[in-house]
Formats: sequence, C-alpha cells, structure tokens
Amino acid sequence: MTPTPKRFSLWDAFSISRPLDRRFINPPPMNTTKLPWSPPTVPLMLAPMQGLTNRALRRVFIDWVRPDVVFTEFIRVSPAQRRPPVSDVDETEALDGAGEAPVVVQIIAADHDRMVDAARRLDERGVQHININMGCPYGRMTGQLSGGGMLKAPEHLDELLLRLREVVGGSLSVKTRAGFDDEEQVFTLVEAFEAAAVDFLVIHPRTVVEKFDGHADHEITARLVAATTIPVIANGDIATAAQAHQVLEETGAAGLMLGRGALGDPMLFERIRGRASPKPSSSERADEIRYFLPRLVEGYQHLYCGDAQVLSKLKGSLAYFDVPDINRWLTALRRAQKLSVFAELALRGP
Ligand SMILES: Cc1cc2nc3c(=O)[nH]c(=O)nc-3n(C[C@H](O)[C@H](O)[C@H](O)COP(=O)(O)O)c2cc1C
Repeated sequence: MTPTPKRFSLWDAFSISRPLDRRFINPPPMNTTKLPWSPPTVPLMLAPMQGLTNRALRRVFIDWVRPDVVFTEFIRVSPAQRRPPVSDVDETEALDGAGEAPVVVQIIAADHDRMVDAARRLDERGVQHININMGCPYGRMTGQLSGGGMLKAPEHLDELLLRLREVVGGSLSVKTRAGFDDEEQVFTLVEAFEAAAVDFLVIHPRTVVEKFDGHADHEITARLVAATTIPVIANGDIATAAQAHQVLEETGAAGLMLGRGALGDPMLFERIRGRASPKPSSSERADEIRYFLPRLVEGYQHLYCGDAQVLSKLKGSLAYFDVPDINRWLTALRRAQKLSVFAELALRGP
C-alpha cells in the first residue's frame, strides 16, 4: 500500500486568501451524467503520458493537487487472439484509484475487433471511462494504423466508434490530434463522433506528423468547440496559469488537459484554480519539488522492482523540471547513481 502523504501541507505556505476561481472547484460528482466531471465546472485533467503517469505518480497528484480527472498511460491492446485483449497487469493499472478520482482508461490498438473486445472487457470489469488514443505519433503505433495512425484510415472510424459505443456503458471519449498531416481533418470526423454519441473529445491541436514540433494551435480548438455539441477538452502547451486562462477564454473549451506542464510544475492545477501562486519563486518551486519527490520515491518503491528501476523511473519524471536557481540541485539529482543518494538529495533540497 502506498502511504498517503499528508494532505495540503504546502498550501499553508501559499496565499490561500487569494480569491478562488470558482469555475474550477468541483461539486460532488452527479449521477446524471456519464462524464468524469460535473458540468458546468471546468475540469483540469492530468494527461496520459506513457512511462510516466503510472498509478504511483497519479496517486501523488491525486493526494496533493487533485486533478479533477486522471488518465492512465495508454494500454496497448494485445493483437494475439490466444491472449486476452488486456493483460492482467494492465487491468490492475486500469482499475487502480478510481475511488479517489475519476480515472479514464486509455486504449490503443490497430485491430478494431480487438479494440472493441478490450473496451467490452474493461467495461465488464467496472471501468467507467474509456478513451481511444487517436494521437500517438510514434513508431509502430502510426505504422500499423493505431494511435495517430488511425487518422490515416478515417473511413473505418464511423463503424468502429459505433461498435465501441455499443459496448461502453460509461463514458466513451477520444483523444486526437488535429489530423494526420492536415490540420483540418478533425472537422471531417465530427459527424462520426456525434453519430456515436462520443461523450467528450480531447484535442491536441498539432498534426500527427508534426509530433511535438511547432506549437499547439488553439485556434483549431476554438473552431472545434464551435463545430460540435460534444464537450471539447483543450490540450497542448499549457504550462502556466496565465496560459490556461487564455486558452479557456479564447477557445470556450469545456476543460483543460495538462501534460508536460503538470510534470514540470505539479502545483499548476492549484495555480489555475487560484489556490497557489500563479508565478512562484524558485524557492517556492524548490519546496514543492522537495514535497513531491520523496512521495514519488515511496510510491515507486512499492510499484517497481529494485533500486535501479526505481531510480530510472524517478529520473524520467525529473526531466520535466526546469527551474532557474535550483538547476544545480536538479542536475545533482539527475546524476545520482544510487537510489539512497537520490532520496537523500531530494529530502535535503537545494
Ligand atoms: C512522454 C510522453 C508520453 C505520452 N504518452 C501519451 C499516451 O500514452 N497517450 C496519449 O494520448 N498521449 C500521450 N502523450 C501526449 C500527451 O498526453 C499530450 O497530449 C501532449 O504532451 C501535449 O500536451 P502538453 O503540451 O500539455 O504536454 C505523451 C506525451 C509525452 C511527452
């Protein structure tokens, strides 16, 4: 069992008297909707990030900065008929933490029959929110028409989405890029999304071929919001509270999804809500990282085997911190060869 960190201890250090932005304060979930949040509240979601947003990291975020919705890393559906479409390990991952925050389970597959089987199985196991990855721009995923590669064969998507809708009793959502190589493509898919009664869309407005180059074009997000009645969640290049508010205002999106920005600054959720300083000093950031890392060390020690693996996973999430004045400390952490050294440095601070 991962020990529960003391809640909100750092909040005392921030000006909690700052007026709260009420849009972001979620009332208790309603039963009247399948969505993983309660409109009209604007949800702030932790993005799926392969190799990073495992259940230990999600738990640290949930206990500390409370994303309104968290996503699993993508679960790769097995194409082999003799295997179950979702492995036991992935099922454990999918079912973890749902009592603490809404968890959206993301699946990725090239074979549509297997994807439908996987969704059915997860639904039967009690997963309430299933998301389809239509954005991953890397390797095998795009080559085989899975992830972002699905956008290379859009003619099959109508039928696939209808079949998924039949087996998913909870929310069915899609996380997509703007298109495969044409940023107008997403607009041609709206009809299929609506016909299958997709519950919400997450848009990362770059094309698949762009990968992470250039910038997320939230004008596309705004146009998508205008083009559909489905709630649209804006994702991409949101790293400060000011950027978050700007994207919301300019797009009219139903909510935001935070990826690299949240890894680099977990308190970003609270900054956007007006509960933590919008422009923290380096020493505030250092205090936050000193709070975060020891909890991640503990979580990873429960989840992974052996110091070497724990250390390498820790360094994976450390890569996203970039804070002036404390970079020497961060570099020392990145260079630590032993878990014990890392843990001691993390506790000691800069
Ligand atoms: C290391 C890494 C892993 C990712 N893994 C996934 C994934 O498993 N599923 C997915 O839909 N997107 C994945 N993404 C994309 C993010 O969810 C997000 O769409 C993208 O990073 C843009 O948002 P950001 O600018 O807030 O990071 C990943 C991104 C990164 C950097």
